[in-house]
Amino acid sequence: MQIAIDGPAGSGKSTIAKLVATKLGFIYCDTGAMYRTATVMAKQKGIGYGDEAGIMAALRDLDITFKPSAEGQLVFMDGEDVTLAIRQEETTNNVSQVSALPKVRQEMVRRQREIAANNDIVMDGRDIGTTVLPGAEVKIFMVASVATRAQRRHKENVEKGIMTPVATLEEEIAERDRKDSTRAVSPLRKAADAVEIDSSNMTIDQEVQTIIELVNKKRLKT
Ligand code: DC
Repeated sequence: MQIAIDGPAGSGKSTIAKLVATKLGFIYCDTGAMYRTATVMAKQKGIGYGDEAGIMAALRDLDITFKPSAEGQLVFMDGEDVTLAIRQEETTNNVSQVSALPKVRQEMVRRQREIAANNDIVMDGRDIGTTVLPGAEVKIFMVASVATRAQRRHKENVEKGIMTPVATLEEEIAERDRKDSTRAVSPLRKAADAVEIDSSNMTIDQEVQTIIELVNKKRLKT
């Protein structure tokens, strides 16, 4: 079974997606982490964030892998642990540019479909229900107010020692929403058959439970 969870930055997708995957014993794939890793790679290799040919040449042989650990999922780039680097502000502020490059998206979508083939999977991102896995049995579109999302990201950041003020995070989130929804290739958009969940006033347990119920309903039907 494939579960697609899409939504804007900080909507709580990844927290929920991870918990749903654990509960169901499915694989979890964080597609945002893949675009973030490509952004870290560009920085490390001195390739411009808008240099599609340069990024593609380097990305072709780049290994991006996920490894579960006691502290959460770790992300590796050619064996190097980039779990923290992909969350740094430099990466966060430039990932929209990298993820808007059509060839980069094409390559990531190819990899994501490969990961999803033959596995029960929960995949989260922006275009999973619309483009990557249009046949996913369960599609969720998660939303939450900008204020709620900035508060959540602030809490996550503080735990990682990143001290960006909430007001700055609000501005960054609004700006990233704008870029993600207006870009030409695969803009953030709710799939026609996705169920919208507004997490602003829900507990994590309630959100997870809502999705598990949708999964169970689907299972009864098939
Ligand atoms: O979910 P996130 O903040 O880690 O995503 C990082 C960036 O990657 C975000 O600006 C949107 C982009 N992204 C995308 O374009 N398509 C996806 N499937 C996932 C993320």
